[in-house]
Amino acid sequence: MNAPVLTLAPHENSREEIRAKALLFADIRSQQLLAQAELVAASTVPVLIHGETGTGKELLARHLHKRSGRKGPFVAVNGAAINESLAESEFFGHEAGAFTGANARREGWFEAAQGGTLFLDEIGDLPLNLQVKLLRVLQEREVVRVGGRKPIPIDVRIITATHVDLHSAITAGRFREDLYYRLNIVTLRIPPLRDRPGDILPLAQHFLGQFAREHARPLPELAADAVQRLLAHSWPGNIRELENTLLSAALLAGGALIEGRHLQFARRAAPALVPGATASAHAATGGAGAPTDQLWQGIRQQLQELLDHDHPELLARWEELLVETTLARHHFNQVHSADRLGISRHALRTLMKRYDLLPPPAGARFGSAG
Ligand SMILES: Nc1ncnc2c1ncn2[C@@H]1O[C@H](COP(=O)(O)OP(=O)(O)OP(=O)(O)O)[C@@H](O)[C@H]1O
Ligand SMILES: [Mg+2]
Repeated sequence: MNAPVLTLAPHENSREEIRAKALLFADIRSQQLLAQAELVAASTVPVLIHGETGTGKELLARHLHKRSGRKGPFVAVNGAAINESLAESEFFGHEAGAFTGANARREGWFEAAQGGTLFLDEIGDLPLNLQVKLLRVLQEREVVRVGGRKPIPIDVRIITATHVDLHSAITAGRFREDLYYRLNIVTLRIPPLRDRPGDILPLAQHFLGQFAREHARPLPELAADAVQRLLAHSWPGNIRELENTLLSAALLAGGALIEGRHLQFARRAAPALVPGATASAHAATGGAGAPTDQLWQGIRQQLQELLDHDHPELLARWEELLVETTLARHHFNQVHSADRLGISRHALRTLMKRYDLLPPPAGARFGSAG
């Protein structure tokens, strides 16, 4: 396996759920993401990390910090866990006597992250009044402690993360657009695990290796039916789910051969993650939301059946069917069809040419562009 494994330093202020000491990138899409991350790590521009739950947003943020060369600490704050009444003093600190109970002077998170990185997780959940204050700090590059007057200059790199589509939060009036543009100088999108299947088995091996080391046991092996099930699962909980599934399977299998029956998949549905572009394409094409897990399971099942038969050009046949069905569904409108397939119109036309689906050149039978 040639996947790069990047070792992370032992976490300062680490939380329980962050167990990994290494990031693994095997799939080409993950490697592309890593390359993007390397390009922006050393600058001080704010980065917004977008990804479903358990895709590794916090690990990526820690990696960016590590590669930034910044000497200060990495401080992680979860927007969803913020206590609104105390938040201002948590963020910006307070002077002694600023309010009842403020006995001593206290530094806020910004000051704690001085010279380092402040990671604001679940930024979409940050209360609106704090969004205003955060915007001001980003503009002024200084904080004033609650009950204080003196502005304190701040040198902090901001990394934010979200699993929700901030565009719809803006439309719904839950997120300030001006703050969004401040935070979103660079966006790193972590694809869900189901979209980077090349990561599944290397990560599985990685977690089993971790299990073996931590429990001082021989490395468990994966039986063929277990491999098949790992690859077929849709992983709504992404890498965290994969990690937990493998740890429980390794325990259930007594640390020896892990078979399909040892894998217990979470039944939770994937949280909606509709990036802006997809959302508008969806609206334009009249989509009814992301396909449910059940639908994917059904398709997987049918694929299994398909694979039981011999077909010399299975992939091409499958692609042709998908392109043809999409075009028919959109009355051969190429713009809408390309949107729906998530490819460029140029790429669609290449496929149409390949499968002889292009309309006749003169006196076109089908509408072409939208
Ligand atoms: N590339 C990776 N290589 C190895 N382990 C990873 C990788 N990405 C994520 N993990 C593992 O997945 C778990 C979830 O990662 P992390 O907490 O960073 O995800 P998250 O996107 O912040 O999740 P949430 O949205 O739930 O906060 C971690 O404990 C880590 O073990
Ligand atoms: Mg997280």
